Amino acid sequence: MSEIATAGEVWTLVTGGAGFIGSHTVDALIEAGERVVVFDDFSTGSRLNLSRWAGCERLRTIEADVCDGLFAPLLHAFEGQTPRIHKIIHLAAQTSVVNSMRNPLQDIRNNYIGTAHVLEFARATSVGSVVFSSSSSVYCGDNTFPIAEDATQLPVSPYAVNKLACEHLIRMYAQSYGLRATILRFFNVFGPRQRASNPYSGVISIFCERAMHNQPLTIHGDGSQTRDFVFVTDVATAICAAAMSAGARGAIINIGTGSETRILDLATTIIDIAGARSEIRFAARQLGSIDRSVAAIDRARALLGFRPKIDLRRGIEATLAWRTALPEAA
Ligand SMILES: NC(=O)c1ccc[n+]([C@@H]2O[C@H](COP(=O)([O-])OP(=O)(O)OC[C@H]3O[C@@H](n4cnc5c(N)ncnc54)[C@H](O)[C@@H]3O)[C@@H](O)[C@H]2O)c1
Repeated sequence: MSEIATAGEVWTLVTGGAGFIGSHTVDALIEAGERVVVFDDFSTGSRLNLSRWAGCERLRTIEADVCDGLFAPLLHAFEGQTPRIHKIIHLAAQTSVVNSMRNPLQDIRNNYIGTAHVLEFARATSVGSVVFSSSSSVYCGDNTFPIAEDATQLPVSPYAVNKLACEHLIRMYAQSYGLRATILRFFNVFGPRQRASNPYSGVISIFCERAMHNQPLTIHGDGSQTRDFVFVTDVATAICAAAMSAGARGAIINIGTGSETRILDLATTIIDIAGARSEIRFAARQLGSIDRSVAAIDRARALLGFRPKIDLRRGIEATLAWRTALPEAA
């Protein structure tokens, strides 16, 4: 593909920018004075997540599917000129592991082919840096803890296979075409704007939603399994740092807190903070569920200066406060 000329002001492109992590990233970028193009098909994202920036000239929103390519929608939105995109933060994805098990082809299209289109755009327009949202699901359950980036990878779902395949594709683009990219592997992200509308949403969003209505919290298994919950604004800070940092180019970096929480303790903490009368129920363990998950974050500290600021308790308080303020639970 020959190089494509770009013109005008410099923009940061955020695919999936209307989603949970994406909209917090957009907040951070605009607060830092950047011009931002959100590229989102609104399959799970919402315009409400960006409503605080309504009328802001430094935000443009394009409703389109990354799998159909980025050139035509961008040309259309910028009146026939390809804008100068200096950074791409690629968050658009089909994000449900369960959906990926039910429909692997759809996951391959959305996550692998979608990423290939983003990389082709970056190659043709010589984008300065790309940040890719990978996942802790690429690791296997038998690793030593905390999990470092060089731990064994053995993805067990189409979602995780496609995330790892995208990582390889990005590395190949870096080697062969000089793409400057950073791969972030998120652990369990939580916070305001995370949907609780289906049973496979983040466990904190579901537990908060149920506790607010004094409904039972269902734990799959005995609750001794652990996860590393990282608050969404800390993740947005890490994403922005990765997009800026030349020292992080070519790196794969875990984004978590380094602390692990038992799911049973999570449930009792949420009930306590919400002042709820919810009971805790136990159900069969979910297939493929792992016992432990906690990130080694030394690399994030060293390369991104990453220091998670919001602990679990404060994060749950913020999530509950956001849910309480919603006209109807999202
Ligand atoms: N939330 C987590 O705990 C977590 C953990 C690991 C990795 N991730 C990754 O982080 C990224 C963001 O996840 P999230 O939790 O904010 O989910 P989300 O569903 O809120 O955000 C995804 C966004 O991408 C958009 N989108 C989906 N397919 C698209 C397509 N083909 N074209 C354009 N837009 C599309 C959706 O409308 C949505 O706005 C994803 O890549 C996800 O795999 C999230």
